[in-house]
Amino acid sequence: MLPIMHVLVIGGAGYIGSHVTYSLLNAGHRVTVIDNLSSGLRENLLPDTGFLHGDIRDAQWVEEQFSTAPYDAVVHLAALKAAGESMHAPERYSRSNICATINVVSAMARHGVKRLVFSSSAAVYGEPRYLPVDEDHPTEPTNFYGFTKLEIERILHWFDRLRGIRFAALRYFNAAGYEPDGAVTGLEQNPANLLPIIMEAAVGMREQVAVFGNDYETRDGTGLRDYVHVTDLADAHVRALGAIDAHDRSLTVNLGSEAGITVQEMIDTARRITGKTIPATVSPRRAGDPAQLIASSARARELLEWVPQYSDVDTLVRTSWAAYSR
Ligand code: WQD
Repeated sequence: MLPIMHVLVIGGAGYIGSHVTYSLLNAGHRVTVIDNLSSGLRENLLPDTGFLHGDIRDAQWVEEQFSTAPYDAVVHLAALKAAGESMHAPERYSRSNICATINVVSAMARHGVKRLVFSSSAAVYGEPRYLPVDEDHPTEPTNFYGFTKLEIERILHWFDRLRGIRFAALRYFNAAGYEPDGAVTGLEQNPANLLPIIMEAAVGMREQVAVFGNDYETRDGTGLRDYVHVTDLADAHVRALGAIDAHDRSLTVNLGSEAGITVQEMIDTARRITGKTIPATVSPRRAGDPAQLIASSARARELLEWVPQYSDVDTLVRTSWAAYSR
């Protein structure tokens, strides 16, 4: 049995962070959230959580937060995450992702906090050389965002070796969906990802969905991805905290559903479930997009005993629609 912990969730007002917080609370843990609310939302702060409003790029501020409470573990999700934008802003992505994480692990080391769950990304792999992508796949990021996540993983390996901080690096594939019981209500502002864009078109917040290419070598010509429900992702974070202790070592795992959904299938499902027209037009391919990306999550299934429950296309769309149609 996992002991009850006081967990510091950095980025806990964000889309994934708020779902992680909810799952940690449901598992009986105590949660304090750090967020600078640059993209996180105040309405995502759940009842029964502490909140520290501040910025982890400020090393002294981070240090002070660790001085005020004895945390048992940290879940670190705070980052800039727009892959395209990262190519034009490497300085900002370096500071927010790499430097800020160094502030966090430095404070953890000083205060003897030995467990860390870190949000990594399938972006560390770059263009897939084979499918499904397992954790031994070469890591050659094609955007600066993916580079920052890979660089942080490497730093974490050294902090494990030199400072005894055990970490779980969770390489998310395409996160989507909303908590089925409606606990998280905040909608991402200016979303860049497919499903929230489809939802915005369904509620009339945008005119249409641009389908980035329909001449890929996939079953219907549109891009195919491995979408994983955010509640399944959140569950993996809770399990990762236990797994770090159970195995007494750091681990790096993919989190994907191992199923592929195309852009066209996502739009068709959304039309069926919402009953809305959802206009869509074919546009040129987006630079840097692979045709297909599918995870092997065998390692997460084994080490975390993780089985996605909500990552089928209908549940992804249904739970998103519940959030957008509210
Ligand atoms: C999914 C599919 C698009 C928008 C990104 C990041 C990645 C990771 C997850 C953080 C693709 C198509 C999309 C649209 C479209 N992020 N699409 N019209 O690119 O697979 O992954 O999010 O870790 O690093 O790159 O996700 O949701 O943008 O695209 O046709 O308006 O939908 O071409 O096939 P992506 P996405």
